[in-house]
Amino acid sequence: MKVGVLTGGGDCPGLNAVIRAVVRKGSFHYQDEFVGFLEGWRGLMENKSIVLDSAAIAGILPRGGTILRTSRTNPAKKQDGLDACIATLKAHGIEALVAIGGDDTLSVAKKLSDRGVNVVGVPKTIDNDLAGTDYTFGFDTAVNIATEAIDRVHTTAEAHNRVMVVEVMGRDAGWIAIHSGVAGGADVILIPEQPFDIDRVADTIRQRHSRGRYFSIVVVAEGAKFSSDVNPQHGAPILQDLGKDEFGHARLGGIGNILAREIEKRTGFETRTVVLGHIQRGGSPSAFDRVLATRYGLQAIDMVHSGDFGCMAALRGNKLISIPLADALSKNRTVDQEMIKVADGILDRLVDEQETVGT
Ligand code: F6P
Repeated sequence: MKVGVLTGGGDCPGLNAVIRAVVRKGSFHYQDEFVGFLEGWRGLMENKSIVLDSAAIAGILPRGGTILRTSRTNPAKKQDGLDACIATLKAHGIEALVAIGGDDTLSVAKKLSDRGVNVVGVPKTIDNDLAGTDYTFGFDTAVNIATEAIDRVHTTAEAHNRVMVVEVMGRDAGWIAIHSGVAGGADVILIPEQPFDIDRVADTIRQRHSRGRYFSIVVVAEGAKFSSDVNPQHGAPILQDLGKDEFGHARLGGIGNILAREIEKRTGFETRTVVLGHIQRGGSPSAFDRVLATRYGLQAIDMVHSGDFGCMAALRGNKLISIPLADALSKNRTVDQEMIKVADGILDRLVDEQETVGT
């Protein structure tokens, strides 16, 4: 078969491992030929491609980023964009397309599938918030990077008697914040799922310090929200600017600095912020992500050959399965009660027994 491959949306460690697994199993086991479309849906729309052969994938397993590059281009937002994608596939004689991306990329895959294109999706996001699958590759690497940063911040916080706020990625879901916060021994973890009261955060820190501790670590997801009227954007995520990408997402970021200012104002403790940003998405994937990404790639090419189109590879328990794309796109996978209980169990507690993580 002639198979197209593309990577769309924000990059994440492990993309190259997926590409490599698709191409290796496809060529070794099925005698497939591969075309890689560059820069996500833009490459398909504008017919920018490379031959994906064994030379193209040599040595890419440990490399971060994606050899196919990526973009947040949305063909559904361009005049005749989806038609242009279909025309490119026809021009190359592509019989099936493997689209590796998050909900935005996969929403376009679904639209093409509805128009009769043979598409298989592979879920990707460091945020780990795609429905239908237990873990996305890239998440483990991001958590490891954030955990190492929290460990480092710990020693400097301790040395200076400071509160340190660490802002991590997580637009709609706090998976990175809660996993790295638990792994790094944070004292407060704030996630988008639970708007937080800044006065209670300050109380938690004050009480901890009144028990003889002289530093605190706060981990906050970029999409976390103040419940009280601390700034004009209360109740909504903090935005870097008012621009939106082609899928309608605003740029988040800045909550760490606002939080640090408000904590210092309320507690009098010197407070600093570290924003990890794209460091969490860069560099070599962890061993776990290399294996997971490889398994996703193998599952995707098997799905191509079993005709499982309009579907996405998904991890359930320890098994790779196929689910309809529509199931993955139906909602976000937010942090579950199980994980909230874990964080709640080890965090410092206020007097109020109702509190959970984030307060
Ligand atoms: O795709 C997930 C993500 O990493 C979010 O956590 C973050 O808000 C966003 O991407 C950042 O996107 P960009 O790379 O366009 O700045």
